[in-house]
Formats: sequence, C-alpha cells, structure tokens
Amino acid sequence: MAVSTIGILTGGGDCPGLNAVIRGVVKSAIICHGWNVIGIEDGFDGLLNPEKCRPLTLDSVRGILPRGGTILGTTNRGNPFEYPLEQDGKIIRVDYSDRVVDNIRQLGIDALVAVGGEGSVKIALGLWQKGVPVVGVPKTIDNDLRETDFTFGYNTALETATDALDKLHTTAESHHRVMILEVMGRYAGWIALESGIAGGADVILIPEIPFDIARICTAIKERSARGSRFSIIVAAEGAFPMGGDRVVLQSASEKQAIERLGGIGQFVAKKIEQCLDMDVRVTVLGHLQRGGSPTTFDRALGSRFGTRAVQMIADGEFGRMACLKGRSITSVPMEDAIRDLKLVDPQGEIVAAAEDLGIMLGR
Ligand code: F6P
Repeated sequence: MAVSTIGILTGGGDCPGLNAVIRGVVKSAIICHGWNVIGIEDGFDGLLNPEKCRPLTLDSVRGILPRGGTILGTTNRGNPFEYPLEQDGKIIRVDYSDRVVDNIRQLGIDALVAVGGEGSVKIALGLWQKGVPVVGVPKTIDNDLRETDFTFGYNTALETATDALDKLHTTAESHHRVMILEVMGRYAGWIALESGIAGGADVILIPEIPFDIARICTAIKERSARGSRFSIIVAAEGAFPMGGDRVVLQSASEKQAIERLGGIGQFVAKKIEQCLDMDVRVTVLGHLQRGGSPTTFDRALGSRFGTRAVQMIADGEFGRMACLKGRSITSVPMEDAIRDLKLVDPQGEIVAAAEDLGIMLGR
C-alpha cells in the first residue's frame, strides 16, 4: 500500500508521554519516509469534525518532549460507534463510524495512528474491521492494558504517588497519625502496589485483594505496640472490602458510559476511626497523577512507541498495537490487547515481595 499521509490522534484520559509519542511519529514519518502528518484534535471526535485536523510539521513538535498532556487534546467520551446525542431530553447512542471512515478518506489519510488505552484501542479495532489501516499505541497511567509490560504514563504516575508518600511519611510521623493516600488505577492496583512498595507504605489496598478492616486495624495496633505510632495506607480507588462494593463517585449513566471511582480513602478512614483511637487523614492524589512532565522512562518509551508505529505502517502491520516485551518494542494484534484487563496477580511475585517486606495487603 502506498502511503503519503498519515493521521495521529490521542484518545481517552491524557497522561504524561503523549507528546513524546506524537513527536516520535511526526519526526520518523517525515525524516525516514517523507510522509505528511495530520494531527487530529480531541481524539476520535476530531474525525467527526474534520476542521479539527491540522498538519503537523517538525516545527509543530519542537520542544514538546518534556510537556505533559497532549498538544492534540483528547476526550474520553466520544466513541464514534456509540456517540452520545441528546434527543427530546434523553441521551441516545448513534453509530457515526461510517462518517468517520468517510472523513478519513476525504482528509487523504492513508493510515492512522491511534494512541490510547483500552477504550481507544477498541475503537481503533472497530475502524480496522471497517477497512481503515490503523495501528495502536498503548497509553494509560493505570498500566492495565494487556500484552504490553508497561504503558507510557504509568511510570510518571508512580513517581508522583511515591513522592506523595514520602511527603506524607514525615507529617504522619510527627503527628502519630494514620495517613491514607488514595490513588488512581481504576480496576487495577498497579499504581497503589508499586508506589506503596517504593514509598514504604504499611498497608496497600488493591482491587484484586478485597480487604478486611478488622485485620488492617490489628496490623496498625501491632505496629504501634512495636513503637511505630504512625501508619501509611495506600488505597487504590478501585479497592473494596470483603463482601462489599467499590466506592463510586458517579455511576455509569446514559450520559457517562463509565462509572467514576473515588472515595475509598474516606471509607477506610471512617472504619479505622471506629476501631482505633488514632487521628486519620486522607489525601486524594487525583489528577495530579495524570499531569506533569513525563519521566525519562516515559519519554523514551513514548518516543520508541511513536517510531515503531510509523515502522508498522511502513511494513503494513495494521490492526496491531505497538507494545513493550521485556526490553524490546514489538507489536501484537489489537484483539489480544483488549481481551481483558491486565490485573495484579494476588499470588504473584510483586504481592509476595510486598508481604515479605511486612506490608499488609488487607487480607
Ligand atoms: O484511566 C485513567 C484514569 O486516570 C483512571 O485512573 C481514573 O479512574 C480515570 O481515568 C479518571 O477519569 P476522568 O479524567 O474522567 O476523571
């Protein structure tokens, strides 16, 4: 297939390293192949509104490597296969995918690079099944995308969470308090687990291991008895008690296709206050984990993913997603990446290491 113009979009929640991918794609497409690159704004939304597309040149990507966010903008709402539209006060879902395919053709885009998490890769796969030559690049701070050892953005989020834990330690110790840090990750506990280990947490709560409050309280009491009169808990937003439910800020609705998690920190704090005579404070790290300058790891990984995506187009490897296996960048079919989420193994090595360090995992 002869390629002269490619398009690139960033979909879903943003994360640090997106600009490194965009820069990697633009530079290698121009330097190695002499292709034109079209930047599509606001994820797949930009393909419904072609005026949101603009040429990207070497000048457009100058200086963006250390910048967080995405110069193209993004959204985690506009799935063109189920586009939400208000009609007579009700939200209906409309399939606009044919319009997207037409617009891609009209824009002269020969191949598309879709950078995103599970949701965006699913949409990209749908477009590939409709005949659009598309390649995927895995992004998310949650690191829950299968078939890649790491997604870019995760490492930066971990740094932010570990830094927060370091800061909470000193104030927890001064005031003899229990400090709870609530972190993101949706249904996966990667951020909580790895930042908890790196930040010396005493208790780590993850969605993959339902927790028992009575046991957490016993562990904190035993710590106090040993002379450590403060404790640090990291709670993943998706963690939940044995026999209980996740704490949800906003349920999924017609308007919002996915539920918003949040509030587990306060939930655990109330329970601990009921059984221990200690001050408890909660910090919700929230979107700070999605912001800031990407770490060296995420800049390098994003850049490598970007150049690989261009190589995949040159080699005709469509319907596939770039991925990291060990130290090598390779590619996998998109279907395999979205089969299910990559979750923490409760019986795995990382959990075992945490427990060997004396960290309580809520069980
Ligand atoms: O998937 C990335 C993520 O940051 C999750 O960790 C979190 O639950 C969600 O997105 C938050 O989404 P929003 O930006 O819509 O609040």
